[in-house]
Amino acid sequence: MAAARDLRATETAGPADAVELAKRHLVQPWPFAGSVGAEARALIGEGDGIYITDSAGKKLIDGPAGMWCINIGHRREELAKVMYDQAMALSYNTPWYTMNAPSAELAMRIAGHAPGDLSHVFFTTGGSSAVETALRFMQFYNNVRGRPEKKLILSRGGAYHGSTYLSASLNGRPRDRDWMDGADDLVVKLSSPDPFRRPRGMSISAFTDVLVDEFRDTVARVGADRIGAFVGEPVQASGGVVVPPDGYLKRIREICRDNDILYVSDEVVTAFGRLGHVFASGDMFGIDPDMITFAKGVTSGYFPLGGVIISERLLEELRRSNHPDAMFGHGLTYTSHPVGCAVALKNLDILEESVLTHAREVAPYFQAQLKTLEELPLVGEVRGLGLMACVECVADRESKDPLQLDKDVGKRIDAHCHELGLLVRPLINMCVMSPPLIITREQIDDMVSILREGISRTMDDLRREGVWQG
Ligand SMILES: Cc1ncc(COP(=O)(O)O)c(C=O)c1O
Repeated sequence: MAAARDLRATETAGPADAVELAKRHLVQPWPFAGSVGAEARALIGEGDGIYITDSAGKKLIDGPAGMWCINIGHRREELAKVMYDQAMALSYNTPWYTMNAPSAELAMRIAGHAPGDLSHVFFTTGGSSAVETALRFMQFYNNVRGRPEKKLILSRGGAYHGSTYLSASLNGRPRDRDWMDGADDLVVKLSSPDPFRRPRGMSISAFTDVLVDEFRDTVARVGADRIGAFVGEPVQASGGVVVPPDGYLKRIREICRDNDILYVSDEVVTAFGRLGHVFASGDMFGIDPDMITFAKGVTSGYFPLGGVIISERLLEELRRSNHPDAMFGHGLTYTSHPVGCAVALKNLDILEESVLTHAREVAPYFQAQLKTLEELPLVGEVRGLGLMACVECVADRESKDPLQLDKDVGKRIDAHCHELGLLVRPLINMCVMSPPLIITREQIDDMVSILREGISRTMDDLRREGVWQG
């Protein structure tokens, strides 16, 4: 009792004490063992447009848009209002044996933007649960079709698909799996389609052939009758904004179709405007997946929501099956949450009204300005698509070696940029930039000039410390 009272007493504390409280009580995502439950991170108090303000009152450009999610920007009154109105009308209903109108309307609107015959949506609480749902649906589908052995999942190096057990088993980024268990017996790994890391001297088109051959050979070796799905991000986001070579996704899609392997396009990052379209699979890459997973930008991060769009063909096959009792034993308490779906509807209105067009217009400028950073000797490549980009640093441009002596160069750049007014998403030797889609040309100029200065200061530090001579 006494301990509980003590804890409550500290809860009224201001920002300075929030740091202490976090160190004592908060377990934050992706912690190292040495600091788990004892760590404070930059304390953010406010957001407005493309900016956030830290506890010291410093205004920062939100370079990663939260976690690729604040698509229409911070402090949108329209979204706050709709959230309030929906909560006052109906804050929750059980999806087990009732339904609500916002989820049905949202499913219809989302299906209207989806490619091919993707017609139905299962709503989840975020991206991991969306990927998990798609995979469990594939397992169920194959069980109902009398193919219980067709369950293996193809995934690629550099992939990130989530933090639940099965979705995380697909992850292929360095470090993600070093200390974590996974369902390794269910997953077959393929190469990342990263043109920057292709073998020296190989053309992009030869590299594409190598990737496609690897895919085809793997299907032949493992057996199509054992592979249930391929899961892939159209652009590998957290793996360093890896834009696949032209035509690669279409060719993979064809192999999946030929072998009755379900193609799951993980658009948790790329959907809802990041590439200028509601979904990139059809509109940018010309593919019609069997399922698309989404989250993040669907509510611009104002409410935790995700989902899977499922092909009409698959649902129809299930309905026609000889297994009328077979039940898809899968559902979340917050499936089809009315507040989340109402927020998503308003968010989609705003995207359709102006933000998608703006994102498409401003994207070439964003990419071109960031590309100028390749003048800096520490920068190996700047790459990207739409409003997502990655600045990859290398110790030596010839060998493209990531910095051996300082693998956390991204963190160093981030620290300098924070001082200068920009939040960066550091990823080992890379900095990922994916600002809110409402960013203007002038704000892009500010962002790039801060990044340039942050990288220059990092180069000075590395030289001074004698770890790099570039
Ligand atoms: C492509 C992709 N899929 C899935 C996820 C997992 O989403 P969430 O963190 O909402 O569970 C992420 C998260 O960054 C992602 O980038």
